[in-house]
Formats: sequence, structure tokens, C-alpha cells
Amino acid sequence: MLRSGVGEATEVGGNEMKRIYIFTGKGGVGKSSVAAAHALKSAEEGKKTLLVSTDMAHNLCDIFEVKLGKEIENVRPNLDLYEIDPQYVMEQEYAEIFHYLGSLLGSGEDVNLQDLGMIPGTEELFSLLRIAALYEGGTYDRIIVDCAPTGETLSLLKFPELLSWYMEKLFPIGKVGVRVLAPMSKKLFEVEMPNKNAMNDIEKIYLKLIGLQDLLRNREVTSIRIVATPAKMVVEETKRNYMYVNLYDFNVDGLYINRILPADVGNDFFDQWIVLQREYVQSLKETFSALPITEIPWYDEELRGVENIRRIVDDALTGKDVFTARVITERERFEAVEGGYRLMVSLPGADKSCVDLYQASADIVIKAGNFKRNIPLPNTLKSYVITGAKFEEGCLEVTFGKEA
Ligand SMILES: Nc1ncnc2c1ncn2[C@@H]1O[C@H](COP(=O)(O)OP(=O)(O)OP(=O)(O)O)[C@@H](O)[C@H]1O
Ligand SMILES: [Mg+2]
Repeated sequence: MLRSGVGEATEVGGNEMKRIYIFTGKGGVGKSSVAAAHALKSAEEGKKTLLVSTDMAHNLCDIFEVKLGKEIENVRPNLDLYEIDPQYVMEQEYAEIFHYLGSLLGSGEDVNLQDLGMIPGTEELFSLLRIAALYEGGTYDRIIVDCAPTGETLSLLKFPELLSWYMEKLFPIGKVGVRVLAPMSKKLFEVEMPNKNAMNDIEKIYLKLIGLQDLLRNREVTSIRIVATPAKMVVEETKRNYMYVNLYDFNVDGLYINRILPADVGNDFFDQWIVLQREYVQSLKETFSALPITEIPWYDEELRGVENIRRIVDDALTGKDVFTARVITERERFEAVEGGYRLMVSLPGADKSCVDLYQASADIVIKAGNFKRNIPLPNTLKSYVITGAKFEEGCLEVTFGKEA
């Protein structure tokens, strides 16, 4: 069977497991509100919970109507809030590297995040490194991450892979030089090798990035939850987003459809909107059929303050085990078939015409829109070539045969 094993869901991760839940989605769909509702429920279940925002336009302080500084603050029993300032994290934890980079760039001053702003997602990367450290610290049962809108989050997801690809192809680990930062700036390619201490620091950051990627891809630890609204532009972006996150092999295990108009709104003006919304809800349900879907009503006021956030908990989360992760077992798998091997990659919602594929030395490269993923070929497949590919029912199947 073409799809056996790929894209099937099983429940794992009992309540004992410490977990990270990342809420992502298009701008303004309700990521912060839905993340806050989960944090509130989690804390009230007695789990030590951290709600952390990686979006520079923080608004946890507005939602919880508290003043927040640069460090973690406790706001309710079992609930801590943290609006990460990546520049501050950088200064606190990576000062030496940036001092060194500053001298390389010839400014004589430390580099700041603006200087590195040529890579989208850099700020969030520092935030995620911080979150990984907090996870490792073990204080929290659940870390709930309220992300910046989709685009930034996605570029961030592919960054560690990009970096490790550079590293593994170009520079064997152990001889990691300044070039580790090459993706950050072409300028850096032209400079001499760093002194040994800086090299160690750069190696450290590289290893941390690899660790971060492992943590985010670990299905036993990290859940990605997508928030959407039933509106045309949002639905399209949400489906694309889902496909990209699958392409990079992260575990999406929940969809939230927010701002659903009540059927009995009792006003002709909304009738057509209600019909349209139903259509979009249906379309989302088809693409996300493998996942638990949570519907959240459109409320008559902004969701500010704990009592308003509690409305989401009461209406949409109560009585549901929203913290149990559903692991979509495998999104990609190699298997032996007659005459060769087969690679199956689950890409639900992908548009056939935008998926492209080729072999580049020891990697299979899958392109979907602007996104590109390198899947390393197992050693046994090194002397094989692609002999066929098809994309059916959201699953890309690539066959390999011996080179003639
Ligand atoms: N179901 C809802 N009913 C009414 N208002 C809502 C609902 N969900 C969210 N809102 C309001 O919509 C606005 C945007 O919500 P929120 O800040 O949670 O979205 P976001 O996806 O985090 O936005 P951003 O991309 O800007 O971070 C807020 O004012 C929030 O109170
Ligand atoms: Mg937000």
C-alpha cells in the first residue's frame, strides 16, 4: 500500500512527559489568544507551565493585563510568562561571539541583531535557543510558545537544516571555522580564520543549533499547532504552511479554527458570511483530516484579561485532552521494494504542480514553492538513482533503482 505507515496517527507521550507546544499561523488569526488559553488550562491542571512569546510585537502583557520585564514572571499559580527579547538573550549569553563578529566586520563594535537582520528569523532563532535551554532546565512540565506570524516561523524552521547542510557538506565538524556563519553574511567568507576561542564559541552555537533542531523535530517533545480562521486568504496560507512544516518533518498535531460565527447570530447581514465560513471550515477539515480539529467561536469582544481567555477554555478546550500529543508516526520513510527502494514523503495539501524533485550527490532535494529540503540518502542507496516519482493523495513516492 502506497501510504502505509506514512502519515498515520497514534497517540503517544503520556502526561508525564515534559513537552513544548508551538502555536503558529497567519498574522492576527488568534495565535496568542489560543496559546494563552492553553497556558491557563495547563496551569489549572496543576502542571508547571511557561507561556513564552517569541514575537517581537509581544502582547502577553496585554492579554494577562500585567507588566512584564525581560525575565520570566510568575503571574498565577503554576503559570509563568516570558516575553523574550532576543537582543537581550544575545547580550547575556552570546556576547563573546558577537564581540568577535563585530571585530570581523570591521566596525570595532559588537554586532547587534540588526546587523544580522539579513537572515529572516534570526531573532526567533535566539528565542528558540533560549526555549531549548529552558526545556533542558527541566523546571516546566509544559512550555507553550506563542510565535510570530507564519513566514518568520517557517524560515526559522528551515534555518538549522540549512546551517547543518552547509556544515556537513563543506566543513567537517571539528574544523568548524568562521564559515559556519557564512549563511549569515557573504562578507564573512572573505575574512581570515578566527582565533581558537571564538572558534570554540562558534562550534558551540552550531552544536546548539543542531540540538535545537533535534528537539523541535522530536515528536515525543514538540507539537506544532496551527491556528487559522475560516477566511479565503487564511485557508490558503494555512494549507501551504502545513505542507511546508511537513516537508521539514515537524510534528503538526492540531488545528484550531478560530472566529467561527455562531449559526444563530440572528442578523441577515451575516447570513452570507456564515455560509462562506462553513465552506472554508469544510475545506480546512479536508486537508487536516488526520488531525484533531478544535473550533472556537467568534466572541462579541476582544479577548483581553484572564476572564475573556477563559471563554476559549470553557467553549473549546474543556473536557478535551488537548495536551496529549498525537504523533503522526512518520512523514518520510525508505523501504525496500523489488529492484530497489522507495522513499515516501507525506505532503498533505501540496499542489502537485509546485512539488519538484531531484538528486544532488548524496541527497534527494525536494522543492515545494520557495522551500527546499535536502533528505540525505542512506548509504545503501548511494549507488542508486531516481527511477520514478509520483505524487498522489498528499504523498510523494520516489523510487530508486541501480545505476545502469
Ligand atoms: N475568537 C475570537 N473572538 C473575538 N476576538 C478574538 C478572537 N480571537 C482573537 N480575537 C482578537 O483578535 C485579535 C488578534 O488575536 P491574537 O492577538 O490572539 O492573534 P495573533 O494571531 O496572535 O496575532 P499576531 O499575528 O498579531 O500576533 C485580538 O484583539 C484578540 O483579542
Ligand atoms: Mg500574537
